[in-house]
Amino acid sequence: MTCITLLFWISITSCVFVQAQDQSGFISIDCGIPDDSSYTDEKTNMKYVSDLGYVESGTSHSIVSDLQTTSLERQFQNVRSFPEGKRNCYNIKPQQGIGFKYLIRTRFMYGNYDNISRTPEFDLYLGVNLWEPVVLVNETAIVTKEIIYTLPSDHIHVCVVDKNKGTPFLSVLEVRFVKNNTYDTPYEALMLGRRWDFGTTSNLQVRYKDDFYDRIWMPYKSNMKILNTSLTIDETNHNGFRPASIVMRTAISPGNESNPLTLTWSPDDPRSKFYVYMHFAEVQKLQSNETREFDIYVNDDLLAENFRPFYLFTDTRSTPEPVGRTKNEIVIRKTDLSTLPPIINAIEIYQINEFLQLPTDQQDVDAMMKIKLKYGVKKKNWQGDPCVPVDYIWEGLECLHSDNNTSPRLISLNLTSSALTGEIDPAFANLTSTNKLDLSNNSLTGEVPDFLTSLVNLTVLNLEGNKLIGSIPAKLLEKSKDGSLSLRYGGNPGLCQSSSCQPTTKKKKSGYIVPLVAAVLVLLVLLIVLALFCHFKRRSRRGAISNKMSTNGVNTGPLDIAKRYFNYSEVVEVTNNFERVLGKGGFGKVYHGVLNGDQVAVKVLSEESAQGYKEFRAEVELLMRVHHTNLTSLIGYCNEDNHMSLIYEYMANGNLGDYLSGKSSLILSWEERLQISLDAAQGLEYLHYGCKPPIVHRDVKPTNILLNEKLQAKIADFGLSRSFPVEGTSQISTVVAGTIGYLDPEYYTTRQMNEKSDVYSFGVVLLEVVTGKPAISRSRTQSVHLSDEVGSMLASGDIRGIVDQRLGGRFEAGSAWKITEIALACASESSAKRPTMSEVVMELKKSVVGKVNDRDSYRDGPVRMVTMNLDTEMVPKAR
Ligand SMILES: *[C@@H]1O[C@H](CO)[C@@H](O)[C@H](O)[C@H]1NC(C)=O
Ligand SMILES: *[C@@H]1O[C@H](CO)[C@@H](O)[C@H](O)[C@H]1NC(C)=O
Ligand SMILES: *[C@@H]1O[C@H](CO)[C@@H](O)[C@H](O)[C@H]1NC(C)=O
Ligand SMILES: *[C@@H]1O[C@H](CO)[C@@H](O)[C@H](O)[C@H]1NC(C)=O
Ligand SMILES: *[C@@H]1O[C@H](CO)[C@@H](O)[C@H](O)[C@H]1NC(C)=O
Ligand SMILES: *[C@@H]1O[C@H](CO)[C@@H](O)[C@H](O)[C@H]1NC(C)=O
Ligand SMILES: *[C@@H]1O[C@H](CO)[C@@H](O)[C@H](O)[C@H]1NC(C)=O
Ligand SMILES: *[C@@H]1O[C@H](CO)[C@@H](O)[C@H](O)[C@H]1NC(C)=O
Ligand SMILES: *[C@@H]1O[C@H](CO)[C@@H](O)[C@H](O)[C@H]1NC(C)=O
Ligand SMILES: *[C@@H]1O[C@H](CO)[C@@H](O)[C@H](O)[C@H]1NC(C)=O
Repeated sequence: MTCITLLFWISITSCVFVQAQDQSGFISIDCGIPDDSSYTDEKTNMKYVSDLGYVESGTSHSIVSDLQTTSLERQFQNVRSFPEGKRNCYNIKPQQGIGFKYLIRTRFMYGNYDNISRTPEFDLYLGVNLWEPVVLVNETAIVTKEIIYTLPSDHIHVCVVDKNKGTPFLSVLEVRFVKNNTYDTPYEALMLGRRWDFGTTSNLQVRYKDDFYDRIWMPYKSNMKILNTSLTIDETNHNGFRPASIVMRTAISPGNESNPLTLTWSPDDPRSKFYVYMHFAEVQKLQSNETREFDIYVNDDLLAENFRPFYLFTDTRSTPEPVGRTKNEIVIRKTDLSTLPPIINAIEIYQINEFLQLPTDQQDVDAMMKIKLKYGVKKKNWQGDPCVPVDYIWEGLECLHSDNNTSPRLISLNLTSSALTGEIDPAFANLTSTNKLDLSNNSLTGEVPDFLTSLVNLTVLNLEGNKLIGSIPAKLLEKSKDGSLSLRYGGNPGLCQSSSCQPTTKKKKSGYIVPLVAAVLVLLVLLIVLALFCHFKRRSRRGAISNKMSTNGVNTGPLDIAKRYFNYSEVVEVTNNFERVLGKGGFGKVYHGVLNGDQVAVKVLSEESAQGYKEFRAEVELLMRVHHTNLTSLIGYCNEDNHMSLIYEYMANGNLGDYLSGKSSLILSWEERLQISLDAAQGLEYLHYGCKPPIVHRDVKPTNILLNEKLQAKIADFGLSRSFPVEGTSQISTVVAGTIGYLDPEYYTTRQMNEKSDVYSFGVVLLEVVTGKPAISRSRTQSVHLSDEVGSMLASGDIRGIVDQRLGGRFEAGSAWKITEIALACASESSAKRPTMSEVVMELKKSVVGKVNDRDSYRDGPVRMVTMNLDTEMVPKAR
C-alpha cells in the first residue's frame, strides 16, 4: 500500500484571477486598521473596512515591522486585541438575517503585535456557543476558522474569550452569504475541516473572485496522475455549490489505473462527525469506446454506484448522514465496465458543531440592544448575548433559564446610577417577562410613560432620583396600592408626587392605537385567507376537464370535404370487421386496418357521443388542411348514418404516454427523448406559425403524441383544436377544455385562449419526458404538480435527482439542464413568461447533439490501494 502523506500550511499567497461578480452579501472586516478606513484588496478585489461599528472594546495594533512583508496578506498587518474583559464580541447584522446561511471566517496571526513574544491561546465563540479554541503556535502561524452557519437570529456575535493564556485578538473577520439550499444538514453549524483542490499545479489558493462564495481552496500536492482542461466548467453555474471553475478544471486519478483512489483522514477526537462534499467533473472528452464509471464508498458504505462524472459539469456527491470513525476512508473504485480510472476534482469536509445552548429570547435581545444603543450604556459584559453563557451575563441583568429547549428570558434589569439621559424608551415595554426594573439615580426626563403598565409581571419599579415630570399613570398607582407593585418615584422634583394628582391630559395613544392595530390585523388575516382560498381553488381546478367547448370556430353545416371519403362498408373492410383494437380514446375505439397494403389506424366514434360530432368535424376539417411530418396525417374519413370514423397513418410504436408511465417495457434513451421532444415541438410550431389562421391544439399531452416505427413523434388528436382569425389574438371561450395537469392555469382563470396554452401543456410534457414522472403526483394528503417539484429540485442544482431514474445516470448534463429549464419556462404560470414554440424548437435543436458512450466491458486488474492522507492539518479537538 502506497501512502502519500502530504504536509500543508496555509500558504500566504493568493490568486489573481478576475471575473465579474458582485460582493453583496459579503462583509469583510480588517480588524485593527484605523477607524473608518477601508481599502480594496489588490488580490481579491474585495473591499475591507475597519471594525468601527462592529466592536466596542479592544485596542488596535500593528504586527512587528519585520514581519510586515509584502507577501503577507494585508489583513494580517493589523489586529484588534482585547486586554480587558473576559469576553469581547463583534456584532454583525448581515443584510438577509435570520434563517439564512452564512460562511463566517475568522483569521488570526499573532505577529508579536504586543512585543512580548508570547503567543496566546483563547476560545472563539459564535453567539452563545463555543466555536473552537484558538491556539497560535508561533508568531507567523496563521490560524483560520471557518464555519457555515444558519442564523438563529438577525445578529452574528463572534466573541473571543480569555482563558488566562494570553490576550485574545482577531486579525480578520469575513462573512459571506451562502445560498441556503447548499450544505443542507439538520445542523446549525458546520466547521470547515478540509477544502482541497486536487490536481492543481499552481501551488496557489483559490478564493474570490474565482470562487463565488469566497471559499478558500487549498492546493493539494500529490504524485497522482493529473487530468486537466482549459475549458470552463459549469459555465451556467447550475451546481448550487458553485466550486470555482479553476478548481474543477483539474482532477487526479491513480497513477496505476487499476488501483482505486483512497482518501483518508483521522480526527483527534474519534467522536467527531463529518459531512463530506466531493465535487466531480469529467475533464477529458471521452472517445466512443471509453467509459469512466466508478463506485464511491465512504467508510465502507456505498455512496454512489456506477457514477459517471459529467463532461464539464460539476456533480457534487455528499454524505446524506454524518460520518465519523477513528480513521475515515473514502474509496473511489472503478466499475467493471469502466475503461478509465476514477477521478476526483475537489473535496470539502466539515465537522458538525452541535450548538446546544440557546440564545436569549429574541425580543429581549432586541430591546436590550436598543436600550444599550439609546443610552450608550457601558457596563461589564454588555456584549454578545445578554443572558448566556451564564458566566458572562450582562451586569445588572437577571435571566430565567427554564429548560434546555426554551430560550432564556430577562426577568430583571437594574440600571441604577448608569448615567441614563433622555426619555424612558419604549423598548423597555418589550421586556415583557421582567419582574424588576430599576432606573433610579439617572437623569431621565419626560413623563412616566403609559407603556410601562404593559409589563404585566412587574413587581418592582424604581424611578427614584431622576428628572421625570407629569404624573404617574393611574394603573401603576393602582397596582402599587393593591400591593402587587413596589413602586418608588421620590426624588423627581417635577413629578406630581401625590396620588390625587390629575391624570395627565395627553391623549392615551394606546386608547385608539390598539383597536386600530387590531382592525388592520383582522383585515390582513382576512386578505391572506382570501388569497389562500383563491389560490387553492385555482390549484385544485387547474386541471378540471370539460369536453364541452365553444361553438366558435366550428361550422355546423354539412361537411363539404368530398375527397378521401370512405363508405361505412369500406371501413368494415379495411378493419377486417373491426378485428383488432389498438386502443381506446375519449370518443371511441381505435382499430387496426390495412389499406392498399399499408397499415392504418381507424378511429371509430361511439354513436352516443353528441359532442363527438363537433370534434370529429373539427379534426377532419383541420387535418384536411394541414400537413406536416410531425402531425399524424389523415388518410380518410367516414360519416354515414351516424357511423363516424377517421382513418390515420399507422403509428407502430404507440403513444409517448405508454413509455413514460412504464406501461411499455422499453425505456427511451436520453437521445430518443430529446429527438421526440423536438419532433413534437416542431409539430406544434407548425400549427402555431405554419398555418393561416394559426391553430391551437388545446390538448397536448403524452398520450396524444404518437411514435412511428422509427420513433419519430407526431402530434395526434385534434378534436379540441381551434383556429384563430388573426395571429396573436386570443379568443374567449365559455367552457374550458383540456386535460388535468396540462391545462394552462391562466387560460383557466381568464378563459383567454391562445397558442401559449399549448406551450404550457408542452412544458408539462417535456417535464414528464425528462423525469419519467406523471404531471401530478398524488399522495394521501396532497397532490403536487410536476412543475413545482422540478422547480424546487432545479433550484438546489440536483439534475441527477430530476432526470428519470430509469436512465441510470446515462444522460448528458448540459442538455438535461437546458431541457429542464425550457420545460419550466414553458410551464410558467404566466403566459407572458412562456417562450413561443419557435423559440422552444430553436433551443431543443441545440440540445439534440452528442451521444452517450457505449458501455464497454473491461477486465478488472488486480487491486492495489493508493491512499491519500487528508490529515495534513490537525483536526481541532471537539469540546
Ligand atoms: C432560503 O432562501 C430563500 C430565498 O433564496 C428564502 O425565500 C427562504 O425563506 C430561505 N429559507 C429559509 C429557511 O430561510
Ligand atoms: C520591542 O521589544 C524590544 C526588546 O524586547 C525593544 O528593543 C523594542 O524597542 C520594542 N519595540 C517596541 C515597538 O516597543
Ligand atoms: C510556525 O508554525 C507554522 C505551523 O506550525 C510552521 O509552518 C512555521 O514553520 C512556523 N514558523 C516558525 C518561524 O517557526
Ligand atoms: C494540463 O496538462 C498538460 C499535460 O497533461 C500540461 O502540459 C498543461 O500545462 C496543463 N495545463 C494546466 C493549465 O495545468
Ligand atoms: C479506443 O479506440 C482507439 C482507436 O479509436 C484505440 O486506440 C483504443 O485502444 C481504444 N480503447 C479501448 C479501451 O478499447
Ligand atoms: C441541559 O443541558 C445540560 C448540559 O448542556 C445538561 O447537563 C442538563 O442535564 C440538561 N437539562 C435538561 C433538563 O435536559
Ligand atoms: C440595583 O442595584 C443596586 C446596587 O447595585 C441595589 O442597591 C438595588 O437594590 C438594585 N435594585 C433592585 C431592584 O434590585
Ligand atoms: C417591540 O417588539 C416588537 C416585536 O418584537 C417590535 O416590532 C417593536 O418594534 C418593538 N418595540 C420597540 C420599541 O422596540
Ligand atoms: C408572568 O409570570 C407568570 C408566572 O410566573 C408566567 O406564567 C407568565 O408567562 C409571565 N408573563 C410573561 C409575559 O412572561
Ligand atoms: C498496477 O498495479 C498492479 C497491482 O499492484 C501491478 O501488478 C501492475 O504492474 C501495476 N501497473 C503499473 C503500470 O505499474
